[in-house]
Amino acid sequence: MIPQPRENIGSISPYIPGKPIEEVRRELGLKGRIIKLASNENPLGPSKMAVKAIRKALKEINLYPDDGCYALGKRLADHLGVNENQLIFGNGSVDIIEFIFKTFVAPKDHVVMAEQSFVMGKIAAKMTDANLAEVPLKNYTHDLEAMARAVTPQTKVVYIANPNNPTGTMVNHDQLKSFIKSVPESCVIILDEAYSEYITRSDFPRSMELLKDHSNIIILHTFSKIYGLAGLRVGYGIGHPELIAAVRKVRLPFNIGLLSQAGCLAALDDIKHLEHSRQVNDEGKQFLYRQFEKMKLFYIPSEGNFVLIDPKLDSVEVFTRLQKRGIIVRPVKNYGLPTALRITVGTEKQNKKLVVALRKVLKEVRRSL
Ligand SMILES: Cc1ncc(COP(=O)(O)O)c(C=O)c1O
Repeated sequence: MIPQPRENIGSISPYIPGKPIEEVRRELGLKGRIIKLASNENPLGPSKMAVKAIRKALKEINLYPDDGCYALGKRLADHLGVNENQLIFGNGSVDIIEFIFKTFVAPKDHVVMAEQSFVMGKIAAKMTDANLAEVPLKNYTHDLEAMARAVTPQTKVVYIANPNNPTGTMVNHDQLKSFIKSVPESCVIILDEAYSEYITRSDFPRSMELLKDHSNIIILHTFSKIYGLAGLRVGYGIGHPELIAAVRKVRLPFNIGLLSQAGCLAALDDIKHLEHSRQVNDEGKQFLYRQFEKMKLFYIPSEGNFVLIDPKLDSVEVFTRLQKRGIIVRPVKNYGLPTALRITVGTEKQNKKLVVALRKVLKEVRRSL
């Protein structure tokens, strides 16, 4: 018999990524342009300043990168108004979710997260063989009161994605503040703010302010979304120096590549790219909402760069037919939402193409019932 994984590892449902464009082209033999609206990437591409910096750094890839990410850490610390010892970098922010679990959660320890939220929290819980309490969303939003009730004095980690993936909803400052007050200080609260730079609402949590009052918070940000650098794989956590020092112990050496460090450092200076990306996203969302309303299609207004729709049809069927038309979106059956799909907001042109294709596909699927 071949070696068997530990029971908790065997029971993990692997992470399902958005389908890469080339895979879809290969599988379906599609010739024309394929639009990927499946992984909440920035449809405008990376900042030109980041690309230039990466080109320059290419000459040095015979060398190991700076293990401590000195330049990037210093620049980010200034940008955020924190000390460098409050930052931890990961190969994407998903890496840091795993670090936090490894650092604070032992097998059978108790952790809490929402049932329909970013699946990496669940995977990390399984990896550590934790005892996970999954709290259903209320109106597609984190039910912080129910989550507070699920937390016990023994809870080691609470994970909150804000805005939430896949629903795009957010909890506000006051709601989050009173939740944090209700959680024992011995429990780490992960505030995953992967989409925070897209936020336009003034009541979004001022989490850096909350961090000053609560040493058990770790805020996660990423370069994969608005910065348009998902391929570089860089995310970072911000927290109390002692928490960060503990988490740093479980990271492997040189986990942030040399090109990634160079690209992210330069991207932080490209304010124009960031603002333009936010504006295109806002306009794109407004366009999509108007179209969905015309189509009488249920959608959830989103604070991120994606929108959840629920046509109340088999989402895999809708996804498959859209894919044949060269548009990749994301069915979210694995999030317990069997008839819903998550669509990344694209460029104006992409959004228009999506709407045309979606109208046709929904008609086809309804007709086939
Ligand atoms: C809430 C949330 N956190 C983290 C990530 C992953 O970010 P990264 O690319 O930094 O690992 C995603 C990506 O979809 C996400 O939705």
